Amino acid sequence: MRFLLWMTSVLAVSVLNATQPRPNFLLIMVDDLGIGDVGCYGNNTIRTPNIDRLAKEGVKLTQHLAASPLCTPSRSAFLTGRYPVRSGMASMSRIGVYIFSAASGGLPNDELTFASVLKKEGYSTGLIGKWHLGLNCVNSSDHCHHPLNYGFDYFYGIPMTNLRDCIPGHGSAFIAGAAKSMKALIQIGCITLATAIMLNYSGIIKIHWKVICYVSILFTFLFGLVFLFFWNFRNLNCFLMRNHQVIQQPFKSENLTQRITKESVDFISRHKDNPFLLFVSYTQVHTALYVESQFRGKSNHGLYGDAVEEVDWSVGTILDELDKNSLHNTLVYFTSDNGGHLEEISSSGEVHGGWNGIYKGGKATSWEGGIRVPGLLRWPDVIKTGMVFDETTSQMDIFPTLVTLSGATLPQDRIIDGYDLTPLMQGESVKSEHEFLFHYCNAYLNAVRWNQRNSKSIWKAFFFTPNFQPEGSNGCFDTHVCFCYGSFVTHHDPPLLFDLSKDPEEKNPLTPQTEIHYYTVVKTIQQAAKNHTESLQVVANQLSWSNILWKPWLQACCSSWFDLCYCDKEKEFGVE
Ligand SMILES: *[C@@H]1O[C@H](CO)[C@@H](O)[C@H](O)[C@H]1NC(C)=O
Ligand SMILES: *[C@@H]1O[C@H](CO)[C@@H](O)[C@H](O)[C@H]1NC(C)=O
Ligand SMILES: *[C@@H]1O[C@H](CO)[C@@H](O)[C@H](O)[C@H]1NC(C)=O
Ligand SMILES: *[C@@H]1O[C@H](CO)[C@@H](O)[C@H](O)[C@H]1NC(C)=O
Repeated sequence: MRFLLWMTSVLAVSVLNATQPRPNFLLIMVDDLGIGDVGCYGNNTIRTPNIDRLAKEGVKLTQHLAASPLCTPSRSAFLTGRYPVRSGMASMSRIGVYIFSAASGGLPNDELTFASVLKKEGYSTGLIGKWHLGLNCVNSSDHCHHPLNYGFDYFYGIPMTNLRDCIPGHGSAFIAGAAKSMKALIQIGCITLATAIMLNYSGIIKIHWKVICYVSILFTFLFGLVFLFFWNFRNLNCFLMRNHQVIQQPFKSENLTQRITKESVDFISRHKDNPFLLFVSYTQVHTALYVESQFRGKSNHGLYGDAVEEVDWSVGTILDELDKNSLHNTLVYFTSDNGGHLEEISSSGEVHGGWNGIYKGGKATSWEGGIRVPGLLRWPDVIKTGMVFDETTSQMDIFPTLVTLSGATLPQDRIIDGYDLTPLMQGESVKSEHEFLFHYCNAYLNAVRWNQRNSKSIWKAFFFTPNFQPEGSNGCFDTHVCFCYGSFVTHHDPPLLFDLSKDPEEKNPLTPQTEIHYYTVVKTIQQAAKNHTESLQVVANQLSWSNILWKPWLQACCSSWFDLCYCDKEKEFGVE
């Protein structure tokens, strides 16, 4: 069966190659958009006509899964076709993503992205928007983790992510925590100093006054540094780059979606005569939310709905550029990096997070609401219009699909976890090749999905589930995001089993009494988890504390430090 599928896909691709030139690729990723926020996935109060147009003119994937429910790991998997744990892009601690631009971690340089493969095949490659996979390693400008090091020829966007702290008046994701640690730091410092002085007077231990003095100076210096960092958080972490240059520090949210749109349209127009790959990675609809005046107050869902509708406008504008240039041989893909962030409530109490439809939970959980994302594919020359595909697909499938369609061969020196979607797009294969999918919460294997062959059932077994707070709610509202370990979760042995084909809302865990196959299903899933775990290799953890914390010597700064890393060169540089 597998061989047959493989043969059809080989034949299909060679037929494609014989009859037409290689396709262009336009990949669109929205940040934190929920599957329930989109018209073609059932939302009838938010207006997304342009995104819906992709579904009408192509295929809608109804069981499309992110490899992780969080930005950094999810994007790592998307670009490489591999589970984030294979690249060390999965955290063991609370913090699962990069929160400081001057962190030393990032996508390892030996990982292969679809951009680097396509670039080798002669494609022009561009990333416009958010990156979030690291920046520097050893100094403030080595750019070892910069997008241009992973196969992109052109980059316009933010190397980190958009955060509440990036826009004045939107509150902070950190200040409460930072204030707490500063207070603790002062307390520890004072107590240590007092103890040292007392010990010296009493003559119990003789510490030279000079040592006490030096340590105090060092401590004050460190404290000052941390204070300066949080005081100047926005400039230090929220900046815009064009290629290797920082062009706006801090970035302005005014017309940023319009600038991303214009950059994308210009990229297509510059490269319309040669095969191109354009990855448009919106900074919205992650908080802080922002929109231009023509969208403000226009949706039925506050600022969040306005931002979704603005992104939809942008998608339409970019699609128009393809159509205007008759670039029908372009595969367009639309998705979101993870589910809507249910806990995002603004300081005034407005909902600033997305909606995941009927699905339970959201961002940062392995419930369907965290990982089941919109997935649309349009390719006028190849895909029949209006198809709906309900089988399991993964964002990791984009890597092998692009590699194969570009004419390259898949790398043989590493495990690729995705499958080529070409047979599906051509309406040839009706069964997903994903028999098992492994759902991670950071570096912890959280659940396994079994798409059982010759059966309608889609089993999903959880080894642990997040403890929602307040109890009975649909998220982790006290901590703002759900964490993956310790007292934040409840472990299940035997695992908590669901059949998603009958219970997509994950409401009714199965028991040996309600499901006759319970024991065999659990046994098979445990065996699959064991096999999968054995396929993992030990790699450096790119999200360890030492790889995520602020290292001042890695700080990108477009002015002198006395000018607080401020500049705005956006106006001086037209697109070449
Ligand atoms: C549409 O999306 C909005 C914004 O996220 C949400 O509040 C609303 O419940 C959704 N409506 C439907 C019918 O899903
Ligand atoms: C930063 O590190 C890179 C790579 O090691 C080196 O080539 C470059 O000269 C360094 N730059 C500065 C300003 O020290
Ligand atoms: C964004 O706003 C700036 C400042 O008003 C303006 O110069 C620029 O042309 C605008 N860009 C777009 C794409 O609208
Ligand atoms: C696990 O691996 C063994 C040995 O390769 C194989 O026989 C078995 O079918 C695998 N089981 C599952 C559930 O993947």
